[in-house]
Amino acid sequence: MALAAPLLRLRLLPLAAFVAVVSLTAAPRRAEAWGKQGHIIVCKIAEKYLSEKAAAAVEELLPESAGGELSTVCPWADEVRFHYYWSRPLHYANTPQVCNFKYSRDCHNSRHQQGMCVVGAINNYTDQLYSYGDSKSSYNLTESLMFLAHFVGDVHQPLHVGFEEDEGGNTIKVHWYRRKENLHHVWDNSIIETAMKDFYNRSLDTMVEALKMNLTDGWSEDISHWENCGNKKETCANDYAIESIHLSCNYAYKDVEQDITLGDDYFYSRYPIVEKRLAQAGIRLALILNWIFGEDKPDGNVIPLQVQ
Ligand SMILES: *[C@@H]1O[C@H](CO)[C@@H](O)[C@H](O)[C@H]1NC(C)=O
Ligand SMILES: *[C@@H]1O[C@H](CO)[C@@H](O)[C@H](O)[C@H]1NC(C)=O
Ligand SMILES: *[C@@H]1O[C@H](CO)[C@@H](O)[C@H](O)[C@H]1NC(C)=O
Ligand SMILES: *[C@@H]1O[C@H](CO)[C@@H](O)[C@H](O)[C@H]1NC(C)=O
Repeated sequence: MALAAPLLRLRLLPLAAFVAVVSLTAAPRRAEAWGKQGHIIVCKIAEKYLSEKAAAAVEELLPESAGGELSTVCPWADEVRFHYYWSRPLHYANTPQVCNFKYSRDCHNSRHQQGMCVVGAINNYTDQLYSYGDSKSSYNLTESLMFLAHFVGDVHQPLHVGFEEDEGGNTIKVHWYRRKENLHHVWDNSIIETAMKDFYNRSLDTMVEALKMNLTDGWSEDISHWENCGNKKETCANDYAIESIHLSCNYAYKDVEQDITLGDDYFYSRYPIVEKRLAQAGIRLALILNWIFGEDKPDGNVIPLQVQ
């Protein structure tokens, strides 16, 4: 099983390969490539909550091609999964079919190197970014930022902290309405796409605006809770992973079996979870970047986030 798992994962072509195939065959372009939307949404929300110092540091670190916008580089880590093969396990963590996450048990790659999972990666790249401004820093902080922004998104996708046995839902075949999918992909993409089509006139920006509006309205009370964690190492990523495995058990895997058809019932009861996780990820990414580049350090009192 241990050997089979990485091979199985290869069958599920991540976004980069899919995009490559699509562009090679010159198929009509979609508004957004598959799977990118979630990461772009998270980062568009985060950008709005960056402190001035953090925004300035981010702008300096971004590659020129980003045009000053963090959201354009947030899908990058998926695009380099094959090139940086070692980074593939950093997108997720798996549990041995239990509904809790334990760093010491679950945060490793297939060779059992400790820390090689999404939680370790968030701590790792946060640490690296603390060396910003230090001329002796040997890290490529542009990459550190692009990895961090991506992995904070990933750790909030419930099935990025799922069960080892089904590879976070990747081996659970389902029908999403009429289309063949796997459960992992439903949570990475399909729920967002269906919501965008049904509620937001197929527009990512309209969806982002709706989420931002909710952050200043429906969720404003919740934000202070999202900022807290009880389990802090370098960051609260450990807590975010615990939340995700709970959501996987209570929503993503719940009542799902091989070959099931998922339609309106599943969609209407799950998309609020997806929207909330996207918003939480955006808020928390801003929080981490404000810690790193601002005065307030994670050990000190956190200055509440302000909309800029
Ligand atoms: C930490 O970052 C370095 C540089 O990108 C990488 O080689 C290493 O595998 C990372 N480790 C984790 C746990 O993310
Ligand atoms: C840092 O990483 C980026 C993205 O991979 C790359 O374009 C850039 O050349 C790297 N910078 C250095 C100094 O290696
Ligand atoms: C939906 O989008 C289309 C083009 O993408 C636009 O023409 C139309 O006005 C939009 N409808 C609403 C209600 O915003
Ligand atoms: C806004 O928040 C409310 C309360 O949590 C929720 O029911 C609703 O689905 C949210 N709307 C969006 C667009 O996320």
